[in-house]
Amino acid sequence: MNNDILFTHAELFMDKKLEQVTNLANLSAIIMENIPNLNWVGFYLFNGDFLYLGPFQGKAAVTKIDLGKGVCGTSAKTRETIIVDDVHKFPGHIPCDCDSASEIVIPIIKNNKLFGVLDIDSPIKNRFDEDLKNMLEKLVKLLVDIL
Ligand code: SME
Repeated sequence: MNNDILFTHAELFMDKKLEQVTNLANLSAIIMENIPNLNWVGFYLFNGDFLYLGPFQGKAAVTKIDLGKGVCGTSAKTRETIIVDDVHKFPGHIPCDCDSASEIVIPIIKNNKLFGVLDIDSPIKNRFDEDLKNMLEKLVKLLVDIL
């Protein structure tokens, strides 16, 4: 994976002038195209009450997640990135694609308000390390700047 290509694509294909759904759709595709060993990349967005499915790449997924539920709802509630090395060991994990073995969820906070989360699944265990976490958090920061 080449981080420069990934960030160049993100800057090329996202724009503050575009609709949010356009930027979110392109960012999910850019991550899926450029980071190996992923099977699901997408957004769950917060409507003030619960998380609902946003733009994504991968198999059809659960449409609504309450705060505090699953990996996504826990990350949204605590506002912290969660790395799950083995989804089968995370209590309350919400399964979507049975190929998923590990997962990372990064909260998206704009002006101190919860916007949603970026959720990424991998078909291999232990896929997400600190380097990848830092890189994905940087991408989310880029996204937050244009939201
Ligand atoms: N596994 C997530 C649900 C969403 S799917 O992975 C796409 C969770 O536990 O919140």
